[in-house]
Amino acid sequence: MKDVETLVEKGILVGVSLQKDEHFDYSMEELANLAEALNVEVVGMVTQNLDRVTPSHYVGTGKIEEIKAFFEEADANIVIFNDELSPSQIRNLESELACKVIDRTMLILDIFGRRAKTREAQLQVELAQLQYMLPRLVGLHASLSRQGGGTGGGFKNRGAGETKLELDRRKIEDQIAKIKRDLEIVKEQRETQRKQRRKNAIPVVSIVGYTNAGKSTIMNQLLAKIGQDEAKQVFEKDMLFATLETSVRHIELADNKSFLLTDTVGFVSKLPHHLVKAFRSTLEEARDADLLLHVVDVSNEEYRFMMDVTNDTLKAVGVEDVPTLYVYNKSDLANLEYPLVSGDNIWISAKEDVGLEELVQLIRKQVFADYKMCRMLIPYDQGAIVSYLNEHATILETAYEEEGTLLTLEVQEADYQKYECYVTK
Ligand code: GTP
Repeated sequence: MKDVETLVEKGILVGVSLQKDEHFDYSMEELANLAEALNVEVVGMVTQNLDRVTPSHYVGTGKIEEIKAFFEEADANIVIFNDELSPSQIRNLESELACKVIDRTMLILDIFGRRAKTREAQLQVELAQLQYMLPRLVGLHASLSRQGGGTGGGFKNRGAGETKLELDRRKIEDQIAKIKRDLEIVKEQRETQRKQRRKNAIPVVSIVGYTNAGKSTIMNQLLAKIGQDEAKQVFEKDMLFATLETSVRHIELADNKSFLLTDTVGFVSKLPHHLVKAFRSTLEEARDADLLLHVVDVSNEEYRFMMDVTNDTLKAVGVEDVPTLYVYNKSDLANLEYPLVSGDNIWISAKEDVGLEELVQLIRKQVFADYKMCRMLIPYDQGAIVSYLNEHATILETAYEEEGTLLTLEVQEADYQKYECYVTK
């Protein structure tokens, strides 16, 4: 439910459907959701079919009049465009429409900015915002100094404007450099943690997917299943991009097998290029994963498109060839049979807690595929090895023989090789 008091702005959405884009209607609907996430009340929508956008104003000039009329009639105070606008397009549109103009990129950056909680996410978003701003500073100042010139301010004003522009630009460049340095440090820490995890040989399962698909809900259900405390639960809400951090949780199964589960940022179509770049290191977690859970909101009729966007974004940040399970969530809303498993695909309802057991079984099959069943006879003076295996392997049977402890067990390939000398028939 919308809270009327928090709606501070009234916005008109403007979109251009290029070459009859079949996903256009959905992208406008998504733009409306993005706007609402920032408490903008959408009071109207203007669309146009074009073969390509108009370089000067994005829409055709005839449409400007329509937007203007609409804007006044609806008593709006902001116009939001469905694509990233160039600096000159923003300048031209603001002067023609005489109001605040923003684009899809600004909206997304703003939402990410508000939701970022960890220092790393905040730095990443700030970097993307500054990089987006830098080329647009010129436009802003050029329009200011042109106004100054027109009213007789002459060279003096323009000179001052230019100096200010230079200063602002330098300030932003310095800030960008500083953030990049800070991010490098955070990245190194993350790298160390990742290496540690590798050394411990704990498999990593990474949850990816379009925003609002149910990633956090699945993570929380899995945590609840294995009795983790609530404090560790991930923030989950019917809100775009509720999750902006990569959170890592340790999942321990009953038989000593454990894996790490990481949640990643939600994807959305036309995710700003600067933002994808900024979040690269966070998404690198997924690149190193042993398994990806690609969560899909199967109740959304655009779910195939969302899957393509997610896969394309993953590819763009170098996540390729990682084994993937497709988790079709929200099956309860989609009139589909669930729970259902077919190869690497599973249909579940995280909200109703249906299909999670089956999901754990699938994960288990994938990440523990290299586990070996064997028997080991460990001499009594090697008690430490028995303790180690009790902790890290699945012991099916323990018998005490004359020569030592006879274990029937399932072990990881690495441990099997380490203790191969004790393997017996
Ligand atoms: P981002 O943080 O935006 O990437 O979202 P997310 O993928 O983590 O989604 P989240 O888990 O926050 O779920 C989004 C909304 O969908 C919440 O309101 C959930 O309650 C709801 N939801 C999740 N799973 C299901 C499901 O199986 N069925 C139904 N009906 N709703 C679900």
